[in-house]
Amino acid sequence: MSEYRSGIGWDVHRLAAGRPLILGGITIPSEFGLEGHSDADVLSHAITDAILGAASLGDIGMHFPDTDPRWKGCDSLVFLRHVQKLAEALGYRIVNVDSTVILERPKLKDYREAIRQRLAETLALELDRVSVKFKTAEKVGPVGEGRSAEAQAVVSLHKLGTGPFHESGPHRGSGS
Ligand code: C5P
Ligand code: MG
Repeated sequence: MSEYRSGIGWDVHRLAAGRPLILGGITIPSEFGLEGHSDADVLSHAITDAILGAASLGDIGMHFPDTDPRWKGCDSLVFLRHVQKLAEALGYRIVNVDSTVILERPKLKDYREAIRQRLAETLALELDRVSVKFKTAEKVGPVGEGRSAEAQAVVSLHKLGTGPFHESGPHRGSGS
């Protein structure tokens, strides 16, 4: 018996001159970047929350408070790796990650493969289990006006059943 779980993640960061634009651990050449306590990698934050959500482990701020000086300027791939290990310790394996970055400019499509590879390495996944998409906001709203960037992510986890939890969970009855 096995179990599948899914989780959703979302994040937003303000754009600012003189900051790096880091997405999925890759630095994108740009005259402005993302503001935040850590490296402000909005994509990694959304995926981190999706993993935590699928495993019912709370959210990124619970594990890495932005008031904690340890996480100032931190590489957000550290967060990703940490939550993947937490999920793994509970018996979960990531099936796939799908994500979208919403940013007006610069164009990101030339960096897609580098971002996918970095995320796949970080999460110890095959490349084809990691999807990264890009959208503009059609010049509408704070993202469209170039004031912020957003990211969304969905993660599926798979757990091989091992114990009575799977047979007699409160909502499962004794079915197969
Ligand atoms: O937002 P829109 O549908 O116009 O985006 C068209 C395409 O442009 C997307 O499918 C994506 O591949 C690319 N894109 C990009 N970098 C962005 C936004 C969109 O490469 N910042
Ligand atoms: Mg964030």
